[in-house]
Amino acid sequence: MTALSRISLSDFRSYPDALIQPGGGFVVLTGENGAGKTNVLEAVSLLSPGRGLRGASLSEMARSGGSGGFAVAARLALPSAAEASEVDIGTGTTTAAPERRQVRINGASAAATALAEWLSVLWLTPAMDRLFQEGAGGRRRFLDRLALALSPTHAVHASRYEAAMRARNKLLAGEAPDQDWLSALEARMAEHGAAVAEARAVTVAALSQRLADAPEGAFARPGLSLSGWNFGGEEALLAELRRARRRDAAAGRTLAGPHRTDLLVTHLGKAQPAERCSTGEQKALLLGLVLAHADLVAERIGRRPILLLDEVAAHLDPSRRAALFERLEAAGGQVWMTGTETSLFAGIGASASMLELSGGGVYPAPSRVT
Ligand SMILES: Nc1ncnc2c1ncn2[C@@H]1O[C@H](COP(=O)(O)OP(=O)(O)O)[C@@H](O)[C@H]1O
Ligand SMILES: [Mg+2]
Repeated sequence: MTALSRISLSDFRSYPDALIQPGGGFVVLTGENGAGKTNVLEAVSLLSPGRGLRGASLSEMARSGGSGGFAVAARLALPSAAEASEVDIGTGTTTAAPERRQVRINGASAAATALAEWLSVLWLTPAMDRLFQEGAGGRRRFLDRLALALSPTHAVHASRYEAAMRARNKLLAGEAPDQDWLSALEARMAEHGAAVAEARAVTVAALSQRLADAPEGAFARPGLSLSGWNFGGEEALLAELRRARRRDAAAGRTLAGPHRTDLLVTHLGKAQPAERCSTGEQKALLLGLVLAHADLVAERIGRRPILLLDEVAAHLDPSRRAALFERLEAAGGQVWMTGTETSLFAGIGASASMLELSGGGVYPAPSRVT
């Protein structure tokens, strides 16, 4: 079991100082609108590489009226087979450097990308209701999170590819770019870009297979494919970059490459692109995808992702809600869920951690107070 056994939030969003010590299964956070439910999930999401589930800047996360920095510190219980039984993970910023994310693993400073070696976090939030309507960037980030869960080095390759691309764009914008330096940057882009493309392709193939084999359950079955970049491996990408120098210099950016990939999702039962499905159907597609992916990751790398399901229960009819809880319970693993009412979670087992959030504090939810 990979699960958080404690997480503290200091000057994070609406929390001056809060501590949560959840069990390993369901963690249900209830509270009024604005009580700080999504804030807690965002803190958990920062225990993985990237900008967290809101994609916000670090300075937005620091509590207004606080010190200017914030800290999220967590203890992760590891699967019993692991060498150590737990690991301490911390992340945050300081007053002096409010835009620099610091990460500590067992007290030692580490890169944010190293977090993926310890845990995976997947989420569904109300903001993702527009995932299929909006631009490819959001879908690419979603895909990358899925890929990262299967391939912990994915974030490293992605960030090295992006860094080399930024340097190449800058170089091409200059008067007479140094050809050796340009070639070196393109070689770097090709190496890491091919690794990024490979991890995505492997993810889509494995997940598609799993979805195809699964029985039609309570959630719509998605079909997946990739579009936007089809040059093949490292050498093909390198050739493409060399060929496109003049074009990219004129455009002021790199026009083709894995940074342009899009994830196409269809509703298999209806043979319809996701963007044409109803909002509820789109949500069910995403839920089906994330649940199948969590199972896939658990099977492949023996570590179930921590799931953050923000306001998901409220949008499901009672029978789908019951099916969701049953499926999650059977799968095991830590699942954080939020809602405004405890009644939404009436069907879940007594072992769930039921917490009520209010005024920056965390309390046992009223229905479980005896
Ligand atoms: N940096 C911040 N400093 C202080 N409060 C914040 C900060 N960011 C967000 N908040 C507050 O957090 C609250 C929203 O919390 P949220 O977790 O989204 O609520 P909900 O329970 O509805 O999910 C709002 O009241 C907002 O003003
Ligand atoms: Mg919320």
